[in-house]
Amino acid sequence: MIITVPTKPYSDQKPGTSGLRKKVPHFQQEHYAENFIQSIFDSLEDFKGKTLVIGGDGRFYNREVIQKAIKMAAANGFGRVLVGQGGILSTPAASNIIRKYKAFGGIILSASHNPGGPTEDFGIKYNIGNGGPAPERITDAIYANSKTITSYKTLDVADINLDNINSFELGTMTVEVIDPVADYAALMEQLFDFPGIRNMFSLGFRMSFDAMSAVTGPYAKEILENRLGAPEGTVRNATPLPDFGGHHPDPNLVHAKDLYDELMGPDAPDFGAASDGDGDRNLIIGKGMFVTPSDSLAILAANANLAPGYSGGIAGIARSMPTSAAADKVAERLKIGMYETPTGWKFFGNLMDAGKVTICGEESAGTGSSHVREKDGLWAVLLWLNVLASRGESVQEIVRQHWASYGRNYYCRHDYEEVDSDAANGLIEALRAKLADLPGTKIGDLTVEAADDFAYHDPIDHSESKKQGIRIMFEGGSRIVFRLSGTGTSGATLRVYIERYEPDSSNHSMETQEALADLIVAAEELADIKARTGRDAPSVIT
Ligand code: G6P
Ligand code: ZN
Repeated sequence: MIITVPTKPYSDQKPGTSGLRKKVPHFQQEHYAENFIQSIFDSLEDFKGKTLVIGGDGRFYNREVIQKAIKMAAANGFGRVLVGQGGILSTPAASNIIRKYKAFGGIILSASHNPGGPTEDFGIKYNIGNGGPAPERITDAIYANSKTITSYKTLDVADINLDNINSFELGTMTVEVIDPVADYAALMEQLFDFPGIRNMFSLGFRMSFDAMSAVTGPYAKEILENRLGAPEGTVRNATPLPDFGGHHPDPNLVHAKDLYDELMGPDAPDFGAASDGDGDRNLIIGKGMFVTPSDSLAILAANANLAPGYSGGIAGIARSMPTSAAADKVAERLKIGMYETPTGWKFFGNLMDAGKVTICGEESAGTGSSHVREKDGLWAVLLWLNVLASRGESVQEIVRQHWASYGRNYYCRHDYEEVDSDAANGLIEALRAKLADLPGTKIGDLTVEAADDFAYHDPIDHSESKKQGIRIMFEGGSRIVFRLSGTGTSGATLRVYIERYEPDSSNHSMETQEALADLIVAAEELADIKARTGRDAPSVIT
């Protein structure tokens, strides 16, 4: 029976870079999740009788919200829900299912790489029919609805059993509990040279994959161990846990330090990789060498034609503005389009739908292609494996040859986490206020060539996104970018992105922080980070 439950609006349901993210107790407030889900449905048109995909990364509170979402979907008039068994769907797998089964859209429950557990993070995100995150037009409408909502619709029925693959009727809606891995694994098998990779493993190639007790475990086990023949144990922390085993499921050098140490150690395997809470990020480490996400994007784009799914070449490349310009050099050489968008995967969707780009990437450990409309952690790992198998060289050899051929973009990001929001906003405002005066000024030996607040004009739908990060460009191609994170759940996170282009291969073996030392000093001088944030050093350097 459909019931209409009266509710009161919350004022803080504005979706950020990637949906609504809050601490679990915040989501557990009365009707909090229901309000947001109803606000999503109220922003959509003509979905009656259509299909909705629902799944999440298995974190704490996933199952409860999935039950609410399914019942509300039925009460609001959807015709069918496809939900992953156990409530599990990685973000890229959800995107694939939306596309493959021509769903109207999907609800993905995740807070990505943020920790999970009773007092940790949770999130709800809506994806549209192309499989990608909803554009701002829709997220703005969701926020507007959330501020005026007075009731939501649901069904007065018992919870649904999500543990078996099954299908049943719920009111006038069909619920299908589906295998979360099968469609995704089939897609990967089409894109990559599985026999070639299998052969590489059979010849003794060794790899370590850390699923970080998050959603990629079952996907990686099925693909790497079962289908590609990697030895059992190649995938570790393979069981998704509601609290990710107490770890922070962010595949960076801080949170995947064990993997990094292993790859730098005496008995290192050939290749190491990890993914995040919901399976869309990737970390790539070769024996003795970490590959920055910006370099990884450039190298994958330059070598994509070695994989069957991209053998005809790629249409173009897109990267987020703070991502290094390494990929730009590849696009230039391939004579294909290069697009620079604001941070957030949602900005790539239009470009992919219009056939302008095939491969996209972000410095925040996201790489992917038009096979889905989300970034895809395992996809990046498999493309690397495909490249390694077909070139027969090591990660180090491939990276060094790439730098020698295109030049090296030394790159790093300094994060100042959980700083006071007013202080962080003040820092950005102060930079903004002096942008016009900066060109021509000198900081140490560096001369500012240009400075702006990045604005993006979408070439497809002509929407404008302003204030997307402060860029300070120096003569010679070095750059510092300052922006505030849009994915945090407490305080503000200041991100400082630092980049230097070095064409001369005799200078390609410097330590990154050393290569960027003068720019790091300049960043402090420009933004007064220590005085304004009260921090002596970044919380994380990636
Ligand atoms: C999420 C988004 C990415 C984005 C990243 C960093 O993972 O999906 O597209 O690059 O967050 O966002 P932030 O605003 O925290 O820098
Ligand atoms: Zn993620």
